[in-house]
Parts: sequence; C-alpha cells; structure tokens
Amino acid sequence: MTFPTEFLVGAATAAHQNEGNNVNSGHWYQENLPGRPAELRSGDAVDMYHRWEADLDLLVELGLNTFRFSLEWSRIEPSEGFFSRAEIAHYRAMIEGCFARGVTPVVTVLHFSLPQWFEARGGWLAEGAVELFERYVAAVAPILTDVPWVVTINEPNLMAIVPVFEKMIAAGIPIRGLPMPDPEYVPSAIAAHRAAVRALRAGGVPRVGLSLAMHDFIAEPGGEAALQAHRAAAEDQFLDATEGDDFVGVQAYTNLRFGPEGVLPPAEDAEKTIVGWEFWPNAVVTAVRHAWEYTGGRMPVLVTENGIATADDSRRIAYTRAALTGLEGLIAEGVDLRGYVHWTYMDNFEWMGAFGPTFGLVAVDRETFVRTPKPSARWLGRVAAANAIVD
Ligand code: BGC
Repeated sequence: MTFPTEFLVGAATAAHQNEGNNVNSGHWYQENLPGRPAELRSGDAVDMYHRWEADLDLLVELGLNTFRFSLEWSRIEPSEGFFSRAEIAHYRAMIEGCFARGVTPVVTVLHFSLPQWFEARGGWLAEGAVELFERYVAAVAPILTDVPWVVTINEPNLMAIVPVFEKMIAAGIPIRGLPMPDPEYVPSAIAAHRAAVRALRAGGVPRVGLSLAMHDFIAEPGGEAALQAHRAAAEDQFLDATEGDDFVGVQAYTNLRFGPEGVLPPAEDAEKTIVGWEFWPNAVVTAVRHAWEYTGGRMPVLVTENGIATADDSRRIAYTRAALTGLEGLIAEGVDLRGYVHWTYMDNFEWMGAFGPTFGLVAVDRETFVRTPKPSARWLGRVAAANAIVD
C-alpha cells in the first residue's frame, strides 16, 4: 500500500530546543538563575540558528519532504514593542530555504518559549496578555502567507498543564502521570489560539490550525469515569476550540491509564522509553482517530509530532513503522490524514530532561555539533521517497 499522493513525511523541531542562545526567553532566564545546574541549560542547543541551511540540505539528502520549525517570539520581539526586522527576515529565509529545496514548511508561531519580558509582566494570566500575543502574531503573518501549514500554538493544552507541574514541584509533590490542565489557564490558552487565527487570517495566511498533545486513553477496571473526565478537560475542550480552523495537528507518544482515582503509573511490565513512557505506537493512531471523529471529520488532520526517546535506534524504527502502519489503516478507512511529521529531527534540548532523552533521527556531537543520521533517519527518508512503508 502507498500513502495518498502528496502525503507529507518529515521531521519536526522547535526553536528553543534547537537554535541555541535564546537569551531573551523566559526559559533561558529560568535555566540561568544562580544555582541552576549548568547541565540543565539549553545553551547553544544544536546551534540550528546558524546551521539551518546545512540541516535542510541533510533533510533533503535523507529523502524527507517536510520540515516543521517554530518562530521564536523572544528573538522577534526581544523587548516589548520592538519587532526585529532582522529576525523576521531570518525566519523568512528559512521558509524560502524550504521552498528552494522542494521541502514543505510547517511553521509553528509559538512553541512553549515566551519572551522574558512577557513572563515578567505576569505571563498568560496578566491583563492584556492575549492582545500582546495577537500583536506578535500580526507582525509575523506577512512572512507566512505562502506557508501551507501554520500552527498557531504548540499544544495549548499542555501549556495549560505546565503551571500545575510548577505548583507541584514548588510544593514538593511528586509528579505521577499527567495532571489535568489548570482551569485558570485554559481560557487564556484558548483565547490566544483564537486571536492567533484571527491575526493570521487577517494577514492572508491560507491554512491555520493548532497542535494538541494527545494520548491513547486506557481504562483499567473502574477507570472509565476518570478517563472520560480527563479526556474532556485535556483534549476535548481544546478540540472544541478548533471550530472554524483549517486543520488539526495531532501529537501523541504514549498511553494514559486510568483507575477509579484517576491517572495510573505506566504498566510495570511494559517496555519504557528514556522518559519513562510506555512504548506505545498505537498512541498516534488512536489520537488521530479521536481528533477526526470528535471534530466530525470537518477538517484534515496532520500528525505534527510522534516519536520516542530511546538509545536503541532499532526500537525507534519499530515504533515508527507500527505507528505508520496504523495510520495507513486510518487513511484506508477514510480519515483525511495529510502527513506524518516525526519528533524530532535531531537529538536536542528536551526541556526538563535537558539533553538526556534522545528523540532524534539524527545524532549530534555536543562538542562539534556534527550531525550523524541514525538508521531511523535513512529509513524514514526511504518511506518518504517511496511514499510507502518500506522494509
Ligand atoms: C513537545 C516537544 C517535546 C516532545 C517530547 C511535545 O510535547 O511539543 O517540544 O520535545 O513533546 O517531550
């Protein structure tokens, strides 16, 4: 079986995790507070800010046809109200670099990292936060008018969970499983997405959507009600917020198990990835199905992230092959799935795990920045080139 013509197969990145030296971002500020361990800093990341041309050349050489990357708000608006023409031109050059190589760009306007000045004035809950975000989005819309896939916000549903994590860490409460989004943050996350859609549409951007962190939900005995409540809060209210969008981006990695009290830890005997998640290729299949069915099939779906953190690259291939096989089945059933973008292009800065969890198709030498494709990169490139799952 082959994928539909023009099915996209590529790899995803995000600015803070790859560019390096995002010195005006809130993440940078936090990472560099006195006393923070040096090994948990993003630092140079993988220096993609300077190496993006060679990185695009390598992507093409591998056979991949799609590249997802994000714009860094803290570079474009490093201080409130100053929009850097030079940085906007930098991202425009990346978009043109994709087109020049026949690569489809998928551009994310906000992938977690916020300018420190925005954090300092109170972040998403402060008065005028959504309006400030909308002004930034309006400033970048002119460079996105020919980009076929524009993601407003990466995982606004996870963005609304991060404050819960922060409160738990501050209170010394151990994090087990994924908490529900903070209800205080949900309205801002949704309003920010809607504002971004408005600004992008007003700027002439053709196809706009968000991407969501999704799971394969599994009810253990007595866990059905907890499952339903969690899915409604973590996924469905955000799928409701896609009303009027042009596509939905699905990101899924693993399952979430539920008992009568809520989320359970991963099954003890299951294979785990470096970040402790169950090896669960079906996650993305169930997630795409849920996004498609819940939204009544009113818009196409794009897998904007899927992958595993592993040191054993053969498990990455096995996982990805199984995920793609399941997705192929969904397409055969009539789901309008337009592509598969793997997380992630190269081993990069994995937020709280720093450089430990290796999700990449390509390894990076941390001293020299030399890139070395893993067998999974070559394999996925051959899938892209053949437009079919290959051996
Ligand atoms: C995020 C990525 C992250 C990945 C793996 C997704 O939730 O969008 O930035 O690296 O998960 O943890």
